[in-house]
Amino acid sequence: MKLWDKGHVPLDERIERFTVGSDFALDQNLVLYDCLASIAHAKMLQKIHVLKPAEFKMLQKELVAVINLDKKGLFKMQQQDEDVHTKIENHLTKKLGDLGKKIHTARSRNDQVLADLRLYSKRELQLIIASLLELSSALLHLAKRNEFVPMPGYTHTRQAMPSSIGLWVGSFVESLLDDLRLLWGAYDLNNQNPLGSAAGYGVALPIDRQLTTKLLGFKKLQNNTLYVQSGRGKIESVILSALLQVNIDLGRLASDLILFSSPEFNFVRLPEEFCTGSSMMPHKQNPDVLELMRGKSAMMQGYLIQIINVINGMYSGYHRDLQLTKEPLMQGLALEKDCLDIFALVAAKIKVNRAAASKACRLELFATDKALELAEKGLPFRDAYRVIAESKFDFVADPVENVKRKTHLGAPGNQCLGMAEKQILEHRQKLREERKNFERAIAGLTRL
Ligand code: ARG
Repeated sequence: MKLWDKGHVPLDERIERFTVGSDFALDQNLVLYDCLASIAHAKMLQKIHVLKPAEFKMLQKELVAVINLDKKGLFKMQQQDEDVHTKIENHLTKKLGDLGKKIHTARSRNDQVLADLRLYSKRELQLIIASLLELSSALLHLAKRNEFVPMPGYTHTRQAMPSSIGLWVGSFVESLLDDLRLLWGAYDLNNQNPLGSAAGYGVALPIDRQLTTKLLGFKKLQNNTLYVQSGRGKIESVILSALLQVNIDLGRLASDLILFSSPEFNFVRLPEEFCTGSSMMPHKQNPDVLELMRGKSAMMQGYLIQIINVINGMYSGYHRDLQLTKEPLMQGLALEKDCLDIFALVAAKIKVNRAAASKACRLELFATDKALELAEKGLPFRDAYRVIAESKFDFVADPVENVKRKTHLGAPGNQCLGMAEKQILEHRQKLREERKNFERAIAGLTRL
């Protein structure tokens, strides 16, 4: 039965199909979270004496049973269920009679769906942050092992100044660690309890929103009931913007790897088992995995734009268009997990061809350093520049020594990789605590 059914004319079947769309299938991902939010809501209703303690117990038991059915794949959403909130309330009423009909006191599906999505995103972000840390560690390891291995540094895809494998790979580590800060920012925004905003305008019952905040393990309450509703899509788009930064980094690293693993460069080697072949050209070993990695950031942009376009210019309050932000959010989160896990596999297996990277450093690459040497001796830099430009670049240069000589902060010879290592440890610690809090909240709600 539809929750909004008033016993009048049944809904036209075609309109039902259109309004539900794929939403019922997406809601399969939300069964666990909808049950958890319902248990917290019921506990709160008990506290304000809408439910008796025994009634809360019965509801909790049935909701835990649903969680277990869902785990076994036995709580299947179908189109006629409309959404997860409807299916669960119908299930409770079927099992518990009038008691099932009480659970929706002082709430709306509008705040329910938000609570579900926040909890869902929280778990997914925890997994993504864990994968991002794995990848950052793998890259840091690669940078450390090759810290002072010389390679040409490029600008405009032309040899510019001496660089090192460590500087190149380390630049991605540092960038990903900045992305991680963005991700934690999105995580914190998402870590606010929307429950109790009801349809967006509050209720004339003394509901205790702090209690549900605590029970669900949210860091804080999202206060203004209308902002909670109007904010749907906002937090989703903040999450996807942070993920997009990660994807842009992954795409750029993929590009570098495609170039540097080509036979013309040959600075790095991709393991054969990660390369695909050609149906026609027998010799090919192609980096399709990296090309797709690069392409996926375009997809993430697409998901982000879908969400932004749904909310842009929308009147305050809930509107059914908001349902359409659910799919791109879920697609974006799934895409990210996939990309990070695959990239961590690749990063762990990349082999550096030290000799080739070093040999590629042509003498002119040292021209700027030579000019700077003259400037250090007192020649005005512009004159030194001219002297070197007019020379035949036939100087002697040791690439390793050159790399190690650049010792100011962040230079090839002093990359402070230990700082990145420390940051990774701190992020790991924060993630452990967040996971523990979340698991503790879930255990508390489901303990019978
Ligand atoms: N499936 C809906 C959504 O995701 C649930 C909320 C429905 N609320 C409503 N007022 N029709 O937005």
